[in-house]
Amino acid sequence: MLPVSASAETALKIGLGDPIDSDQGVLALRFKEIVEKTSGGKYKVDIFPAGQLGDEQKMVKDARRGSLDGAVVAVNNITPFAKSVGILTLPYLMQSFDDAVKATTGELGDKWRAVLIEEAGVHVLGYAYSNFRVLTNSKKPINNLADLKGLKIRVPKNAIMIDTWQALGAEPIPMAWPETFTALQQKVVDGQDNPHITNFSMKFYEVQNYTSEVHYLFSLQPLIVGEKFFKALSAEDQAMLTRAGIEAQQYNLLFSVTNSEEAKQNMIAKGVKYNEVEDEAEWSKIAMAKVWPKQKASSLLPANARSMYLPVPRNRPSLPIKVLTT
Ligand code: MLT
Repeated sequence: MLPVSASAETALKIGLGDPIDSDQGVLALRFKEIVEKTSGGKYKVDIFPAGQLGDEQKMVKDARRGSLDGAVVAVNNITPFAKSVGILTLPYLMQSFDDAVKATTGELGDKWRAVLIEEAGVHVLGYAYSNFRVLTNSKKPINNLADLKGLKIRVPKNAIMIDTWQALGAEPIPMAWPETFTALQQKVVDGQDNPHITNFSMKFYEVQNYTSEVHYLFSLQPLIVGEKFFKALSAEDQAMLTRAGIEAQQYNLLFSVTNSEEAKQNMIAKGVKYNEVEDEAEWSKIAMAKVWPKQKASSLLPANARSMYLPVPRNRPSLPIKVLTT
């Protein structure tokens, strides 16, 4: 399959789990544009969308060992290689765009970058802020916890997310991302969860009848390159890629904030019925009570996790758009 651009002097190969018209694509295309412009033609970026280079967990492995330059993947698909990062997939940890921005920029951004280098051998250049993962399914609107009973939900191979859906009473079925559409189509599973933008770009409206809005997990999707690859570059090229990643991240944030609602409406226009769950305070109570203590027990979650990773006061109103300074 052909990548999105042709070869060049130094061509960076970047894989995406999602189609090019997703928010992963928005991040990668902006990165490509900036790198090609600011490097004055020294670098080209070739993007391989929609899992052409394998599923997201495979791409993380390939970037780590150097057989792939980089990828955009959901953070939940890095956690098998960087257990501490599982904290970012804890239910109801992040509750707004503000929280997500706070967790990924400044001192906290540096902290997570260091953790990912150390544990997974990958270097984060920027993030796609994909918004909350909402639940889609083919059977019925999910209005409350009782409706989840017996619902087969595809989940990524991420222990914390599997645990969360079990705690809530559903039947989570771990499965790689590229197999999800077919599994929904063949009714191997009833539903899945991902943000509106992802659901629309994946054409899940063809195989799902309901979207139910929940806020248990804000989806972060880092643009990573292999640390080996990054370290081998000159200081000048490292700075150029770092800068391009930050700018692409800011661009992606504006895109996500402004396009999530449109993607939701697009799903509805395609015939998918939409509702908000009624008892989400209960979801949050149960998920946090059942899932968080296990992480504390495994000492991955420091006692001061909230202040360490997310020092955002809970009652602060969420800003719809935050332009970052670097
Ligand atoms: C997943 O559910 O595996 C990912 O969040 C999918 C994605 O990368 O969009």
